[in-house]
Amino acid sequence: MRVPFIAGNWKMFKTGQEAVTFAEEFKEKYKGTDIKTAICAPYVYLSLLKNLFSGTNIKVGAQNAFYEDEGAYTGEVSVKMLEDVGVDYCVIGHSERRQYFGETNESVNKKLKRLLAGAITPILCVGENLEQREKEEQYLVVRDQLVGAFAKIEAEDAQRIVIAYEPVWAIGTGKTATPQQAEDMCEFIRNAIEALYGEQVADEIVIQYGGSVKPANATEIMNMPNIDGALVGGASLNASDFMEIIDF
Ligand code: 13P
Repeated sequence: MRVPFIAGNWKMFKTGQEAVTFAEEFKEKYKGTDIKTAICAPYVYLSLLKNLFSGTNIKVGAQNAFYEDEGAYTGEVSVKMLEDVGVDYCVIGHSERRQYFGETNESVNKKLKRLLAGAITPILCVGENLEQREKEEQYLVVRDQLVGAFAKIEAEDAQRIVIAYEPVWAIGTGKTATPQQAEDMCEFIRNAIEALYGEQVADEIVIQYGGSVKPANATEIMNMPNIDGALVGGASLNASDFMEIIDF
């Protein structure tokens, strides 16, 4: 039984005070909800949010991590450090990291393997850009990303990974994939996982859609059979909007 999971990705937004204000407002609104949720925040606020959300079911996620535990890697944060802070989730391979910071399928695979050696749940992002969609290469691109990401990962680990389908052309553009386009790709992803790991893993794995998810379109997207959740950027910065999405 897949439990809906709706996560916010704050990207590089908010001051510390804004994070506190959000957490206080959101905690109040979230009471009594049984949808799984997490806020994936900049590193510097993870401890703060962990404390603010203690005693609630609201989880905290990072937006990236490095696969080595320690060493001369100026500017990086290791999975071990995130474990130390008690982080629950970690986004890996977001398109913005692939586009601006040289993330590759190979580095994504190494990061996933390191996360799976511990208890943090990875949220693996896949998705095609506009040019690839216009050339009708989206399924090839996503298949490639999946095969690269899951290389040499065993079935029992694979089913712990949350997959987020985020078409790059729908991120921050206000242009959402139609619910059917999102469903078609999420179904394709589930079938690809079945081909790699069999039916049981494919049935269990949680697949989110991300790309301009807002209160106004959340219901239609969440009602699709192969979409189990959402990865929400802009609308997760506002506690009321994010809560409305969770209440789809
Ligand atoms: P938006 O919801 O702002 O389009 O961002 C989606 C996203 O990239 C979440 O990771």
